[in-house]
Amino acid sequence: MRMLGRHRLATAAAAAAVLALLGTASPAGAADTTLRGLAEAQNRYFGTALTADNLNNSTLTAVAAAQFDMVTPGNEMKWDTVEPSRGSFNFAPGDKILSFAQAHSQRVRGHNLVWHSQLPSWVSSLPTAQVATAMTDHVTAEVTHYKGKLYAWDVVNEPFNEDGSYRQDAFTQAYGSGPAYIAAALTAAHASDPAAKLYLNDYNIEGTGTKSNAMYDLVKSLKAQGVPIDGVGFESHFIVGQVPSSLQANMQRFADLGVDVAVTELDDRTTVPATSAALTTQANEYAAVVKACLAVTRCVGVSQWGVGDADSWIPSAFSGYGAATMYDQSYQPKPAFTSAQQALGGTGTGGGGTGGGGTGGGTTGACNAVFSFDQQWQGGFNGKVTVTAGSTAVTSWKVTLTLAAGQQLSGLWSGAVTWDAAHTVMTVASTYNGSLAAGASTSFGFTVQSNGNTAAPTVGSCTAS
Ligand code: G3I
Repeated sequence: MRMLGRHRLATAAAAAAVLALLGTASPAGAADTTLRGLAEAQNRYFGTALTADNLNNSTLTAVAAAQFDMVTPGNEMKWDTVEPSRGSFNFAPGDKILSFAQAHSQRVRGHNLVWHSQLPSWVSSLPTAQVATAMTDHVTAEVTHYKGKLYAWDVVNEPFNEDGSYRQDAFTQAYGSGPAYIAAALTAAHASDPAAKLYLNDYNIEGTGTKSNAMYDLVKSLKAQGVPIDGVGFESHFIVGQVPSSLQANMQRFADLGVDVAVTELDDRTTVPATSAALTTQANEYAAVVKACLAVTRCVGVSQWGVGDADSWIPSAFSGYGAATMYDQSYQPKPAFTSAQQALGGTGTGGGGTGGGGTGGGTTGACNAVFSFDQQWQGGFNGKVTVTAGSTAVTSWKVTLTLAAGQQLSGLWSGAVTWDAAHTVMTVASTYNGSLAAGASTSFGFTVQSNGNTAAPTVGSCTAS
């Protein structure tokens, strides 16, 4: 492998990298058109759920890292994973999600501590008199493990039935009432990490109605008793054409109680194959949800449940439904991405993954470039950029790429590299692999010495002829 030139520390890039490490700003990028960058400019976040399995899909992770700045573990911090038998803790899956998030300057919403589902059977089999201690022990151990590392916790998940009554489960039985176990869980969580924002999270509470009123009354009464509660999560598993028009007003009335609100698990399902009319309605609805959040000062952010249609839980849970997210089966942005981005003040371009949590896009219409890590080791990594032709065939392509501050390129294959005058932006041109049929892909690879910076390079543009 031939040694190539040294990537210089550009002042702006270095400053951005430091801010990114502190988690206070989106990473470097002149015009940040990503969801995360646009949301941060509005003092909000844009999040996604990620599972440990998802981390094995480099196309998915490239989009996740580039576009989202908040991560909710899909399953890895739930009771059945974390404490499968009493007193025996398994934090490895959750830690894996946390490491990914930290490596990409993303924050984490812990999900969740107390829930009737994904609850190991030993809890419901306990004598009632032991459940309260098991619950507070679980909350204390898990919150303590992640102390100082998480933005928020869904402390109690989905406590209500559709008619606004409390679900009857091991916890209501042990404590004698819904509010009693919920207050105990919140109090235990607060004692273990006073800085984490503590949420109650549920579905079908997005619009005003019986279930939402039940949550409202609960939060009001917890606040009145001085129980530590910071926020309410509106899951927002919507059906195209049925997003409640009272969403904003409903979030506002909760905010007026003195809590934060967040859209925590957004998706908007339709029958598949999705019609273009459904995708247009879905796009309008994504924009409406984003705008509702922006209109409520205490709405801190929006998270989607999954990155794309290919990893969404919808098809397995609702037969005949799918296409519920902003990215299609191949992680290409759908109209919902563009409308969400525009609702955040963006121009409706980009949408791809750069793998670095930086500037999104890499799309010009002619081709699209997505970065992914191939192999990472102490001190460096092999990266791969997948180049995909757009709707017409191409005979050559060029991708611009910026390494993170301090990183040094030590080799490159399946492409020819040139540098800009400042030696910060590399342009990689196709060699033998320039000819691509419409929609076809190829890739080039390279080796980087990280010099202490493990961030992914940022894809700038992909142009083709
Ligand atoms: O891990 C086992 C695997 O060993 C087994 O072979 C396989 C067979 O079915 O099941 C695997 O467990 C699955 C688990 O996800 C991990 O993939 C469960 O069956 C499956 O039910 C479980 O589904 C999760 C669901 O919560 C459970 O209610 C979804 O992934 C997860 O996305 C979903 O997330 C919930 C939120 O926590 C709360 N709000 C609703 C949201 C969607 O249901």
